[in-house]
Amino acid sequence: MENIKLNLENIFGFINRNDFEFTKGKALEFNKELNNPQGKYTGFTGWVHLPFTTNDDFIDKINNTIKELKKKAKYLVVVGIGGSYLGAKAVISTLSKNFVEPNVIFAGINLSEEYLSELIDYLNDKEFGICVISKSGTTTEPAIAFRVLKDFLISKVGEKEAVKRIVAVTDKEKGALVKMSEKMGFKTFVIPDDIGGRFSVLTPVGLIPVAFAGFDIKQLLEGAKSMAILTDDEKTYEENISAQYAVARYSLLQKRYFIEILANYNPKLHYTAEWWKQLFGESEGKEGKGIFPASVDFTADLHSLGQYIQQGPRFLFETVLKVNKSFDKINIQEDAENLDDLNYLNGKNLEYVNQKAMEGTLEAHISGEVPNIIIELPEINEFSTGQLIYFFEKACGISAMLIDVHPFNQPGVEAYKSNMFRLLEKPAK
Ligand code: PA5
Repeated sequence: MENIKLNLENIFGFINRNDFEFTKGKALEFNKELNNPQGKYTGFTGWVHLPFTTNDDFIDKINNTIKELKKKAKYLVVVGIGGSYLGAKAVISTLSKNFVEPNVIFAGINLSEEYLSELIDYLNDKEFGICVISKSGTTTEPAIAFRVLKDFLISKVGEKEAVKRIVAVTDKEKGALVKMSEKMGFKTFVIPDDIGGRFSVLTPVGLIPVAFAGFDIKQLLEGAKSMAILTDDEKTYEENISAQYAVARYSLLQKRYFIEILANYNPKLHYTAEWWKQLFGESEGKEGKGIFPASVDFTADLHSLGQYIQQGPRFLFETVLKVNKSFDKINIQEDAENLDDLNYLNGKNLEYVNQKAMEGTLEAHISGEVPNIIIELPEINEFSTGQLIYFFEKACGISAMLIDVHPFNQPGVEAYKSNMFRLLEKPAK
């Protein structure tokens, strides 16, 4: 299989290649640190080894659970937020065909009464199951959604049957969800202690929803495994694209490029960018440091945010996700009247036009002083998605260490929660 590639050529007009020199060594050191059982962040780095430790028996166990669930439920409502949601949503959106009704639906991702009540209306005439995912087991949004949806399922099919349609993914011993699962008898899967939410997509957190959606989780893990090998401790800086991406971001930040925009030219990648924003935003935005991760869907956003990117303040850089495969399915035909003036495209396929839009945008943004990084995917499939996930996770760990923040905590998230609990008059424990 072809690997994803990183192209940094278009940042060297803005930063000097020499700026990289010191940071290269540091990046490799931090790459090793992620793999070091005695390292500073041991206890948070289980995801580094996950593609090797997830064996075929475990994959079979997940696939068999899905098979059983599917005998009863056509739809799966996945209840979770943040790292217990975005990875699965990203993988499923990336791999699904456009315009096919999804069989995996997400809840617990907001506190909107309208969203949840309309979801219940939607599910009313459907056979569904629930996969509730929360590492802490105490997060408010999914806890409320699960209580409401579980009660709804019980009211529809009775408690005995509902229990057979519920799978819980949570900590091995802590939190309300563990207790509830034991008491009610839900099937459970464990989120390993040493894997935090936003790094958990290749655990049952992501694997269960992705398998229910019908995708090959073994290939997803194979892709991740191949990237783990491509970025292992033995590799030089020139071979390790995660280290290269981390160094490029760090060097750009030193030159006051404070915002990174992840751009795609394929709408299937929209939620990959949402997952990436959480991964980097929650890992790096601490102690007054970190690059702000933003995203755009091109070419749609060239007609909106494109103006700001071209001519707004110059503190942005862009990372483009480029998919190389063309489908050659829509060829533009000659029109006798040519009223739309499109005959100059006669015989060209639409991906060719998309490609030229990308090249033209790249040129324009570089001349508008926006450095560009390109990540090339040979095509969109489970393998390349697994590679991309691992590539970003590794780069994120290194990147956060380069700016000297703890990559795996998120103390800032507590601020809104404690205010909300005070306003809701939640009793202290
Ligand atoms: O990355 C993280 O750790 C967070 O985004 C969590 O995933 C999110 O807050 C949900 O937490 P939990 O799975 O405990 O409900």
